[in-house]
Amino acid sequence: MGMKRRMTTGIVFCLGMLLFCACGKEQSSKEDKVYLGVAYYDQSDTFLNSLIDCLKDELRDYEEEGNEASILIRGAGGSQRIQNDQVQELIDAGCNVLCVNLVDRANPSEIIDLARENNVPVIFFNREPVTEDMMQWDRLYYVGALSEQSGVMQGELAVELIESDVGVDRNRDGRIQYVVLEGEPGHQDSIIRTENAVDTLKSNGIEIEKLSNGIANWNRAQAQNQMLQMISQHQNKIELVLANNDDMALGAIDAYEKLNYTESALPVFLGIDGTDVGLEAVRDSKLAGTVYNDKEGQAAAILELSVALVTGEGMDAVALEKERYIYLPYFKVTKEMAEALLKDKNL
Ligand code: GAL
Repeated sequence: MGMKRRMTTGIVFCLGMLLFCACGKEQSSKEDKVYLGVAYYDQSDTFLNSLIDCLKDELRDYEEEGNEASILIRGAGGSQRIQNDQVQELIDAGCNVLCVNLVDRANPSEIIDLARENNVPVIFFNREPVTEDMMQWDRLYYVGALSEQSGVMQGELAVELIESDVGVDRNRDGRIQYVVLEGEPGHQDSIIRTENAVDTLKSNGIEIEKLSNGIANWNRAQAQNQMLQMISQHQNKIELVLANNDDMALGAIDAYEKLNYTESALPVFLGIDGTDVGLEAVRDSKLAGTVYNDKEGQAAAILELSVALVTGEGMDAVALEKERYIYLPYFKVTKEMAEALLKDKNL
């Protein structure tokens, strides 16, 4: 065998080995272990903290079924810049799927670029990016709920109460004087919930009069302050408080409690979320009702989608709308339902 022939054989052998190794790598890179990187906008948000607890529960169940999984969670304290860094950190740590609750839902480009460069799929949740951003890459998904539905349901709860209890219209002027406590400006759940709740009241023939609205950014303490101002402005004229979430409805109740209002002088309060504290307030008749934001369903959908994206199995079973969206339905909660839900949770 000449020198040239031996070299060729050597090269072919090496190439073969390379190919073999590459194939081996290919096989083992079809990942089985789900490593979730979760980035969320603010650690002080009651609903999101419980949604993340649900996600941890889901992951524990998944592990108990004999699968390998882990989770790394970062809260951004309301800063998009911090969140972008955290996403980089999650990628560096080896997370193979990112679950991102954006701080600024209109500003996901840096995160999308990072994810794309590293080929890590992203499941946005709860704070929905606009369609154009969702189209930036084909490995972007969204899990959440339809804001419009929650607004309509809150409006329906109000209609049911007003129609069944003449006492809601305390001054008997045939109109319901109301105020609104709003979540963050620019959040899909703020404007759309308010609009739909108010439209539902109107379309059901309820005469309403808006006295005031205040932005309280989903936050109980801020809502209490806003409500104190509204009370000082309108005294006992307020008959209905529509809050974009439970924490703000509870903040409004705190304000009245602080001022020692008697029960008969209180307006009707309605929230959205069905957080544990919210459900307890409905059970105790402090909150007239709420609309359940299905965090358990959302967490289950996030995990199901994550597993499918990482393992490449089970994608057919994931119920995606428009190829990349999952919306979990809301449902209305009044006293009986709140009691049942709390019992179910052993609370
Ligand atoms: C809403 C929820 C609020 C707050 C907000 C944060 O869906 O109702 O309580 O958590 O998301 O994005």
